[in-house]
Amino acid sequence: MKIRSPIVSVLGHVDHGKTTLLDYIRGSTIADKEAGGITQHIGATEIPNDTIDEICGSFISALTIKDLIPGLFFIDTPGHAAFTSLRKRGGALADLAVLIVDINDGFKPQTYEALNILKMYRTPFIVVANKIDMIFGWETHEGASFKESFNQQAQSVKQALDTKVYEIVGTLHKEGFQSERFDRISDFASQITIIPISAKSGEGIIEVLAMLLGLAQEYLTEQLEINEDAPAKGTVLEIKEETGLGLTVDSIIYDGVLRTNDEIALMTSSNEVLTTKIRSILRPLPLEEMRDSKKKFQKFDEVVAAAGIKIAAPNLDDVVSGSPLRVLNDKENVEEEILKEIEDITISTDDEGILVKADTLGSLEAIVKLLKELDIPIREADIGDVNRRDIINSSIALKEDDAHGAIIAFNVGVHPNSLEDLNNSEVELFEGDVIYQIIEDYEEWIKEKEE
Ligand code: GTP
Ligand code: NA
Ligand code: MG
Repeated sequence: MKIRSPIVSVLGHVDHGKTTLLDYIRGSTIADKEAGGITQHIGATEIPNDTIDEICGSFISALTIKDLIPGLFFIDTPGHAAFTSLRKRGGALADLAVLIVDINDGFKPQTYEALNILKMYRTPFIVVANKIDMIFGWETHEGASFKESFNQQAQSVKQALDTKVYEIVGTLHKEGFQSERFDRISDFASQITIIPISAKSGEGIIEVLAMLLGLAQEYLTEQLEINEDAPAKGTVLEIKEETGLGLTVDSIIYDGVLRTNDEIALMTSSNEVLTTKIRSILRPLPLEEMRDSKKKFQKFDEVVAAAGIKIAAPNLDDVVSGSPLRVLNDKENVEEEILKEIEDITISTDDEGILVKADTLGSLEAIVKLLKELDIPIREADIGDVNRRDIINSSIALKEDDAHGAIIAFNVGVHPNSLEDLNNSEVELFEGDVIYQIIEDYEEWIKEKEE
């Protein structure tokens, strides 16, 4: 048995600082060669424990069981990769999450959205209140801990920060969470930690790393045990065309080992199991080498979880993002398992109701769960653009009950050939890239209908 690094998903509204936070962590270690050791993965960055020690210094040495967890495996989640990065069979792919909020901007649509998804998957998370350097009068202390920098601020600045933190506490309270600034928490099991930081100056990042490591050691060691020899289990994040490689799948491996020439099973957009043989396993080159090389990737004969990798293999055309990935050692069993997983995902629908379309399995599942919580009946839920058949079927549903003539389209468009059909029909389309906004529009529409 081996303990792998916890997978930490960074979530939040557009431009609230997800990538800047990870850039800072990466940059501070690249600049400091002594620390080094950082690994770039596909869609993820692994920060080894030694590096965290270097960044955090005495902050971490207070933790008692420090060598148990090998490091932190961060996933940056632009837009809606969030849903995919959070889900795996039987629970959450991410072991922990960082919900990042611009402290001056507060909660925004995608912050609420991320919070709802975290609730749904019961993923433990911390809240990071970013951009404290933008608070009026803030004096920056590059790379300092929050406490150290905070103690040196003027009284009015301290108060301004706390007012903003308590706005976040208030918002979280309305959403059903007790929370507190990290240094005032009395019970980590029942209160959500809020850490004020600046991803730009690095202030507070020490506390973020220490807190994540501490939470992992305190609550997660059991779920982080993996079998290094077992066939790999993973989740597909994205399907990408790469020059010279053809179609590839970017995946996160969260258990076991994956080798070149392994037969793997994946899922297609039409809910079928596809099997293929791995031609190569690739990772981005280390950052220094990337500068003097035309190549972008390095080949590996095998990788052990947790790992973010690109897989090159034949026949990947129909793979759906969010698909499970399994190694087929005992073919029948795995195919059965993967079919069961697909069944779990292929969301159970009602006899009557609306149509839901979404871009990935993860987002489809998330939206269906949220609609079910609101008792909104769903006739059908599929991946892909809204097409002619969707409009015809919705027109039929509409004749039975005009509340069912709605299509909820999350992060997908209407097929160009079907636009005219849609305009000529009485079907109502609710589209967008923020689930809860779409649902709000839909509920508004239903209310108007009832009046
Ligand atoms: P998306 O990936 O587009 O959703 O955005 P993101 O959450 O990754 O935000 P990103 O890191 O791209 O930051 C957005 C902008 O905010 C950039 O211009 C950053 O330089 C700026 N920014 C991020 N963090 C800070 C901070 O702590 N202080 C200041 N002043 N600016 C910041
Ligand atoms: Na951005
Ligand atoms: Mg980003």
